[in-house]
Amino acid sequence: MKIVLAYSGGLDTSVAIKWLKDNYNAEIICYTSNIGQSDDPEKLRARAMRTGASGFYFEDLRGRFVNQYILPSLKAGAVYQDKYPLATALSRPLIAEGMVKVAKKEKAQAIAHGCTGKGNDQVRFELTIKYLAPELKVIAPVREWEFKSREEEIEYTRKHNIPVTVTKAKPYSIDWNLWGISVECGRLENPWNEPTEDAYQITVSPDRAPSKSENLTIGFKKGIPVSLNGKSMDVITIIENLTKVGGRHGVGRIDMIEDRLVGIKSREIYEAPAAVILHTAHSELEKLVFSRDLYEFKKTLSQRYSQLVYFGQWFSHIKDCMDAFVETSQKFVTGEVKVKLYRGNCIVIGRRSPCSLYSEGLATYTRKDMFDHRAAGGFMEIFGLPSKLEGEREKCY
Ligand code: ARG
Repeated sequence: MKIVLAYSGGLDTSVAIKWLKDNYNAEIICYTSNIGQSDDPEKLRARAMRTGASGFYFEDLRGRFVNQYILPSLKAGAVYQDKYPLATALSRPLIAEGMVKVAKKEKAQAIAHGCTGKGNDQVRFELTIKYLAPELKVIAPVREWEFKSREEEIEYTRKHNIPVTVTKAKPYSIDWNLWGISVECGRLENPWNEPTEDAYQITVSPDRAPSKSENLTIGFKKGIPVSLNGKSMDVITIIENLTKVGGRHGVGRIDMIEDRLVGIKSREIYEAPAAVILHTAHSELEKLVFSRDLYEFKKTLSQRYSQLVYFGQWFSHIKDCMDAFVETSQKFVTGEVKVKLYRGNCIVIGRRSPCSLYSEGLATYTRKDMFDHRAAGGFMEIFGLPSKLEGEREKCY
C-alpha cells in the first residue's frame, strides 16, 4: 500500500511515518507545502527520508491560497462567530487538494493526516478528500495509535532512531499561515487566564504599541484589494505589509470562545492583523455601495458561508452557489477606505467610491439640501398606516 502523508517535520508526523509503515505495511510519500510560513524544504526532505519516507513533495501554495481561498472568503465576509477570520480553516482544503493531486500521480491508495479526533481540522481534510477523490482511504494515525502522551511518542522515536529535534514542550500549539495564526493549549485552556505575551508571534501588545497612530488607505477593485496608500500592489504584498504594520500597532489580536464542529467549546487565540484590517475595510466599502437590502441579506449569507468554511464544506454545491452570489455582489465594490491603526484598534475614518450610493446632496443639513421634505409628509401617511390601525385597535378592549 502507498500512503501520502501530510508532513510537517514535527513530532507527530515523524512518528507517523514509521508507525504507518509498520502498521499498514506501507510505503510513505510525505507532502509539505508553503502557505506563508515554511521551513527549509531541503531540510524537511532530508529529515523525511531519514525517517523512512520513500518520497517527498514540497509545493509553494501561496498564490493558490490567496487567489482561490483567501480572496473568495474576504469577498464573502467570512468570519466565524463574528471574530475568527478562518486562517487555519481555509488552509486545510487547500492542503488536502494538493495531497489528492499527489496521491493520484503516485497512484497511492490512501492519504494520512496528523489531526486529532476532537478538532475541526480532521473534518476539513477528510471532507475535501471525500469530495475530490472518494475512492481514497483516509488514515488518521493520531486517532488510532497507542501513544497517550508526548513522552511516549518521544520514547518511540528513541527506540526506532527517528530524527526529531526534541525541544522542551512548547507552551502553546500554534498553526501559522499568511492569513493568520491560531494558538491553543497550555494555560489558555482555562478561559479566564489572560494569554502571556509569548502566545503572540506577530503582534505587539497594545501597551507597547506606538502612542502615535498610523493611517492607511486600502484600495479595492470589485472586492479585491489592489492598492495600499495609493500604490498598486499584488494581494500577497498587501497582506504581508498589513501584517507588519498591523502587528506593529497591536492590531488583529483575537481572544474568543468558539464552538467546534464536534460540539466542544474551545478557547482560541488568533493573530490576524491583515485579515482584520481587510475585512474591516472591505465591509465598510460594501456599506457605501450596497443597497440596504443587499447589505442585510449578505450579512446572513456571510454567517452561513463562514460556517461552511469552518465545518470543512469548502467543496460543496451550496458553497459554489454562494460564491456565484458573492461574485455578483462585488460588481460595485470598488473604491478606497481609510483606516487608523492605534494601539490594538483598527478604526475606519473615511471611504469613497465611484460607485457610491451616498449622496451628499440628500444627506446634508445645509442650504445645499436636495431632499424633498414635503414629500416626507405623504410618506408618513402611508408608512405610518399600519401603526395607526394598530393604535386604534387598542381601543377594542
Ligand atoms: N480552532 C481553529 C480552527 O478550528 C484553529 C485550529 C488550529 N489547528 C491546529 N492544528 N493547531 O480552525
